[in-house]
Amino acid sequence: TPVLRVGLLGAGTVGSQVAHVLLTRAEELALRTGVRLELSGIAVRDVHATRDVELPPQLLTTDADAVIDGADVVVELTGGIEPTRTRVLRALGAGKSVITGNKALLAESGRQLQDAAAASGAQLSYEAAVAGAIPIVRPMRDSLAGDRVERFLGIMNGTTNFVLDQMDSTGAAFDDALAEAQRLGYAEADPTADVEGHDAAAKTAVLASLAFHSSYTITDVHCEGIAGVTAEDVAAAKEAGYVIKLLSVGERCGDGVNLRVNPVMIPREHVLGGVRGAYNAVFVEAAAAGSLMFYGQGAGGEPTASAVLGDLVSAARAIALGAQGIPLADYAALPAVSMDDV
Ligand code: NDP
Ligand code: HSE
Repeated sequence: TPVLRVGLLGAGTVGSQVAHVLLTRAEELALRTGVRLELSGIAVRDVHATRDVELPPQLLTTDADAVIDGADVVVELTGGIEPTRTRVLRALGAGKSVITGNKALLAESGRQLQDAAAASGAQLSYEAAVAGAIPIVRPMRDSLAGDRVERFLGIMNGTTNFVLDQMDSTGAAFDDALAEAQRLGYAEADPTADVEGHDAAAKTAVLASLAFHSSYTITDVHCEGIAGVTAEDVAAAKEAGYVIKLLSVGERCGDGVNLRVNPVMIPREHVLGGVRGAYNAVFVEAAAAGSLMFYGQGAGGEPTASAVLGDLVSAARAIALGAQGIPLADYAALPAVSMDDV
């Protein structure tokens, strides 16, 4: 089987789960792609740090450029703007497809990265960047590309939804709930990005760029986070039959669009009112398709790794198979089903 070398930048909450799958399920993934996905190097800040998953020490390095240069495809899960942008551009410039979950970077420099990918013929994929495990980037980019998206709205930050839900359901203090969200791997490295709404605003810009076929940055999104939401606000909303949620909205407005993130009171019986914990939900309204709803785990190592690996399998298929699609072996490996089993 041909080998595709995967260079991983970052082995934290998400990166360590991606590494774990590549190290333990290589044969299964080879059946799906026609190539063996070989983890060729892992760039981290501290090679001696304790990790969620045991990783082969010989793969760990602080030399990210060496990991990029030694790979055929690069998975970026370090976060932040610099030096990450320079590294992603290095990979794309060398014609190496990049998979990233970095909405902050995409919402600042998405256009520059897309241009670099287009110039070298590499792919830039980022299903994990919006709403964790939920498939929303590709449906917005591909499935709805022939329709006219009028509006999307939803809960697109798991940390703030977790915090608000804990305050609402158990009366937990804001700081305690946030600390628990950090412990569970939902929050950004600097949780201010979650609390102040910047993470949801970045996702709103990324999704709006796909929905409205333009290029929006985080500065195009009006943003208000949940730092000002008090226990009294949550209790008063509950008393009145509402629940407070951090809502992201992108909608056409005249010749332009309106993009915003802010806390809103939602009736408890509304379907968005029932989105608990770190789950996310996104409603999309399109001219022909009508209303669509996407729901699932919006944060966390394993759920987000699922989205990253989907992009990686897709990139590997494109590299290995070109237009041929899914290898026959994938179907051959499926167990036979008779009508009696249905
Ligand atoms: P973590 O903070 O848990 O992990 C970051 C990893 O990157 C660590 O392994 C760290 O090394 C490494 N790293 C950081 N800076 C550098 C650097 N300059 N050079 C080399 N390595 C570096 O982050 P997450 O896994 O939570 O998130 C990663 C990305 O995925 C972010 O862009 C985030 O926004 C995104 N994301 C996260 C989700 C989640 O639920 N956590 C969901 C969706 C997207 P070391 O371990 O040595 O410190
Ligand atoms: N910090 C982010 C959140 C991770 O809580 O939603 C997923 O993008």
